[in-house]
Amino acid sequence: MRDPKRVAILISGRGSNMRALVEQANGYTVALIASNKLDAGGLEWARDHALQTWAMESKGTGKEEFDRKMNAALDEHQVGTIALAGFMRILSPWFIDPWRGRILNIHPSLLPKYRGLDTHAPAIDAGERVRGCSVHIVTEELDAGEILGQAEVVIERDDTPETLERRILGVEHQLYPKVLSEFVIR
Ligand code: GRF
Repeated sequence: MRDPKRVAILISGRGSNMRALVEQANGYTVALIASNKLDAGGLEWARDHALQTWAMESKGTGKEEFDRKMNAALDEHQVGTIALAGFMRILSPWFIDPWRGRILNIHPSLLPKYRGLDTHAPAIDAGERVRGCSVHIVTEELDAGEILGQAEVVIERDDTPETLERRILGVEHQLYPKVLSEFVIR
């Protein structure tokens, strides 16, 4: 039986959500930081903070081959919950199936609205008044699993996709650790 309180955080880039999850860890242990990019900025921060890391370049590696190797690393560190934090890679059904219900993701929109990438500009263009972020369970369907928590951000008249993204990111950093803490004991 995997311990749900042992969390792996999966990143591909700067890892600001990873950092928030580490710094605000409450009721869970960050057992591993894993990345599909050898040069992900967040890896350096993780190493500087004495966290366990695993990284393998996914480009040029078969989808399932990568997932198998990452799965072995997760097992080695006795991980029970996976938190995707800017992990820019679709996981294979082979991976998702045994982890069903144990993988979380943070997405910068109020799901089910605006799934996928680069949605700030379309939301502004559509005249939306409110945006936000969602933490949800990962399934085979992109950004479509059970929603565990959401936080709203009001769109100001002079907002650009960049200013909005920055404000939502700040809210993500508060929402994700809170939802993860609640999730590991449920
Ligand atoms: C965040 O906007 C998150 O919502 C999305 O990817 C971005 C990751 O940023 N899934 P960071 O690497 O956590 O800074």
